[in-house]
Amino acid sequence: MKMGLSHLLLFITIIRLICFSTKAENIECPHKCDCLEQYVDCSKKNFVSVPKIPKWVERLDLSYNRLNENVTEAFDKLLHLQELKLDKNSFHFIPSLLHHDQIQELSLNRNNIGSIDTGTFPANSSIRILNVNSNHIKFIEEGALTNLTNLEILKLNRNEIKSLPNHLFMNQTNLRTLELNHNKLHVISPLLFQGLSNLTTLKLRFNNIDNIMDGAFFGFKSMNLLQLDHNRIRNISKGWMYGLESLITLSLSNNLISEIDSGSWELCTNLEVLDLSHNHLLEVEGRSFQHLINLRTLNLGYNKISSISQDAFGYISQLQTLQLNNNKISWTVEDMSGPFSKLQNLISFSLAANHIKSINSRAFDGLSNLGELDLKGNNITSIQQHAFDSMSKLKKLHLNSSSLLCDCNLLWIVKWIKEKAEQKYVTANCAYPSEVRGVSVTKLKEDNCGDSPKPKVVEHPKTHLAIKGRSANLVCSATSIPFNNMTFLWRKNNGNVSNPTVYENITIGHNGQPRATSVLVIPNVTHADSGKYQCVVSNNFGTTYSTKAKVNIVTFPRFTKTPTNVTVKTGETVTLNCAATGDPPPEISWKKDGGNDFPAARERRMNVMPTDHLFFIVNAKTTDMGIYSCAAKNPAGTIIANATLTVLQEPSFVRVMENKEVTSGDSVVLQCMISGSPKPVIKWLKDGAPITPTERHFLTGDDQLLIIIGSESSDAGRYECEITNELGTKKDMTELRVLPPVAIMVNEENMAGIIIITVVCCAVGTSIIWVVIIYHTRRRMASAVHTFPAESIKMTHVVHSDSDSPQMFSDNISEHSSCKDSGTGDSAKQTSFDGVPTDRSEPVHFETVCQSYPTVPEAHKLLPSSFKPSIQVCVNTSVTPATYSFSSHSGNV
Ligand SMILES: *[C@@H]1O[C@H](CO)[C@@H](O)[C@H](O)[C@H]1NC(C)=O
Ligand SMILES: *[C@@H]1O[C@H](CO)[C@@H](O)[C@H](O)[C@H]1NC(C)=O
Ligand SMILES: *[C@@H]1O[C@H](CO)[C@@H](O)[C@H](O)[C@H]1NC(C)=O
Ligand SMILES: *[C@@H]1O[C@H](CO)[C@@H](O)[C@H](O)[C@H]1NC(C)=O
Ligand SMILES: *[C@@H]1O[C@H](CO)[C@@H](O)[C@H](O)[C@H]1NC(C)=O
Ligand SMILES: *[C@@H]1O[C@H](CO)[C@@H](O)[C@H](O)[C@H]1NC(C)=O
Ligand SMILES: *[C@@H]1O[C@H](CO)[C@@H](O)[C@H](O)[C@H]1NC(C)=O
Ligand SMILES: *[C@@H]1O[C@H](CO)[C@@H](O)[C@H](O)[C@H]1NC(C)=O
Ligand SMILES: *[C@@H]1O[C@H](CO)[C@@H](O)[C@H](O)[C@H]1NC(C)=O
Repeated sequence: MKMGLSHLLLFITIIRLICFSTKAENIECPHKCDCLEQYVDCSKKNFVSVPKIPKWVERLDLSYNRLNENVTEAFDKLLHLQELKLDKNSFHFIPSLLHHDQIQELSLNRNNIGSIDTGTFPANSSIRILNVNSNHIKFIEEGALTNLTNLEILKLNRNEIKSLPNHLFMNQTNLRTLELNHNKLHVISPLLFQGLSNLTTLKLRFNNIDNIMDGAFFGFKSMNLLQLDHNRIRNISKGWMYGLESLITLSLSNNLISEIDSGSWELCTNLEVLDLSHNHLLEVEGRSFQHLINLRTLNLGYNKISSISQDAFGYISQLQTLQLNNNKISWTVEDMSGPFSKLQNLISFSLAANHIKSINSRAFDGLSNLGELDLKGNNITSIQQHAFDSMSKLKKLHLNSSSLLCDCNLLWIVKWIKEKAEQKYVTANCAYPSEVRGVSVTKLKEDNCGDSPKPKVVEHPKTHLAIKGRSANLVCSATSIPFNNMTFLWRKNNGNVSNPTVYENITIGHNGQPRATSVLVIPNVTHADSGKYQCVVSNNFGTTYSTKAKVNIVTFPRFTKTPTNVTVKTGETVTLNCAATGDPPPEISWKKDGGNDFPAARERRMNVMPTDHLFFIVNAKTTDMGIYSCAAKNPAGTIIANATLTVLQEPSFVRVMENKEVTSGDSVVLQCMISGSPKPVIKWLKDGAPITPTERHFLTGDDQLLIIIGSESSDAGRYECEITNELGTKKDMTELRVLPPVAIMVNEENMAGIIIITVVCCAVGTSIIWVVIIYHTRRRMASAVHTFPAESIKMTHVVHSDSDSPQMFSDNISEHSSCKDSGTGDSAKQTSFDGVPTDRSEPVHFETVCQSYPTVPEAHKLLPSSFKPSIQVCVNTSVTPATYSFSSHSGNV
């Protein structure tokens, strides 16, 4: 049995009339109204004035009438009134209810109230709930709410409030819910909400809020729910989060948020639900959600997210629901390895309506509790095997792509769907090969799968160093079977390369298979270009990612200081300067004459000061002369600067010239051993007149040796050696005596002789000069060449030492030499020098032949034509200690 409300009320009213007849005037339910106990319903009666209301009324509904503030007096005597509904009337302001400090709930929705003024509410007002939604409130006077100390719920939705006075809610310590949706607020200042320490719910949806000042919600110790959807908030920062430590649900959808400052959430670690959908987020960074350790639900749908960093969700491992639908996600799922792997508690995950074309095998690593995955609205062409392996609890896979590439690589999914998934959510169809186009993937069979027409990268971009200011290229080539038009996209550090310069072409490879190549050109490399580059190749059948190539930027070295040519005198200090910049900073190294042998270093006269870029040589010597090269080297390259060091030394005699004697017919060598820098010019004089070379007289060893073959008495005399360079001239002299010939045997046969001379020539450094004179002469006279006179085969060692100049030793210490048995003066004994064959029957040969002097003209004439005499001067710089010796032998050829 059903009874209408009005019938029931009527019935109750009748009961009242019977039971409380003593209060006749008070107990009557007003005409047209309905009453139930202390509740009187006079709504929707088109009243312009308040009918007579019984005094016992506790709850009175006068909504949907035409009442205005002039009727206020009518409530004066209703001393039990607790709840008054005046919705949808014509009030222009909140009626003053001065005698009604017992009213707890007042509702004035949908009137014409334009403001709330002071004096409206009596002291000790009991109002707990005040609803003034859908009026035209523009202002609330400062202090207007002061007397509402018991207010728990205040609804001011759908008004025209642009701003509110500071400290408006100072006395509302009991307020739990404040609703200000659909107003025109745009600034939230930190003073506005002061005092609302017991507020749990604040709704500010659909305002124009674009400025939430730091500390705006400070003191909201109890806040659980904060709604800020549909405003104009641009970023999230820690500043306005102060005081939100109890916040559990925060909704910020439909704002203009493009940035989440790192550390924003540090103060609201209790947050469980966060809605950031419909914003302008482009990426999720590693620290975007740091501190949200209790987050259960995160909605990031309808943003523009294309980039998700590897550790983006590392902090929110309690997450159970993640919405990333309607974004621009592609490579996160196509290429990254385990971007969601920290979300082990995730149960529901939406990636619907993104740009995912393929799914790599590691994309969903770690999602071990996932039960529902939404991939609808992605034109997925391929899914790598094992891609779903880690999601052992996945039942609801939403997949509706009709672009699937049903090659043999996709067969596994048929089995997977049959065994694991609820099939009704999978409506994906094949697009390729043509035989199975439009066929549901679940019907795919082994015998109708084929090759993959997906792009295959055959040349990956290579890691390299790029030089700043130069251009750099990255090359990526791909092919597919059958060949298909491809598009290349270049990515850098997981973002797209902006305004890339790219050249693309198609060539035919060795196997006759076409391949497409894309070259990314960085025309003018700067430091900003460093990073990891990757090419992404797509065709209708899918997307393939190349490996990532690291490009490091280096700067070519550049000299800031270069060494200059220096000329010093011996004993002075040489300073060479060399410094260079570059990135990485170049290493500086020195070479002398292209090698690493620095006489000054051996003698500890050299010092390189890396910090000052200085190179010192103290106590310079002529051996230090040469070209010093400073090389500045870094991975970008090497630059070299040369400087010539010239050391000047006065001409000097290394050895005092000795007087000599020679037996007539024998050969003799006069020595003028000199030193000086530049190399002195030597002038030989005999008895004051310059010596001119003849067939018997010639100079060798840089003119330091005067050789006289077959001496005659006219050769006797005073020989002078005059040496000159730019620092001066010096002179030394020697006397040559020619002794009469000694007759030992008479020999008509042809005689051949070899003179081997080893001398030290100081002018070319302490080098050994091998002078070999081969002569052949016919002698008729009895005085045969048996032996050199003893005094002409003196031997001297020149031992290299660390001292300033070569030291001379007489032959009494010759046992230290490697050629101690040379120069015994006995020509019958074959003299042996290191490496110098002396067997007369063998052609004379030296390992190091540096220079061949012209033959001795006269000797040549005397020799048989088959025997070619020559004088060879060999400079052997590697022999240390150097030897000076003089030897000869002679005999038949
Ligand atoms: C209220 O009554 C006063 C005087 O009785 C009148 O002037 C005023 O217009 C009335 N207000 C409304 C809204 O009817
Ligand atoms: C508070 O109540 C007192 C006493 O009724 C009144 O005089 C005062 O104007 C009220 N204050 C405000 C701001 O409404
Ligand atoms: C309102 O709050 C202020 C400051 O806390 C206090 O001085 C004042 O007495 C309060 N007013 C009422 C009516 O409680
Ligand atoms: C309101 O907050 C105050 C402290 O700010 C506290 O003493 C009081 O119990 C709270 N009231 C309610 C109803 O929570
Ligand atoms: C997916 O494919 C359909 C039909 O080919 C096309 O209309 C749509 O734009 C594609 N969506 C994306 C995100 O590429
Ligand atoms: C590739 O694209 C070019 C121009 O965009 C078009 O002319 C050609 O037919 C396409 N080739 C294939 C195999 O799709
Ligand atoms: C295509 O590009 C490659 C790589 O830059 C280049 O070596 C080749 O010469 C190009 N071929 C044509 C036909 O342009
Ligand atoms: C490269 O860029 C630098 C800095 O932007 C500029 O100074 C230089 O002229 C550019 N060089 C070339 C070749 O464009
Ligand atoms: C340094 O000396 C070298 C060789 O002597 C010469 O080629 C070069 O021009 C000189 N450099 C300067 C700056 O004089």
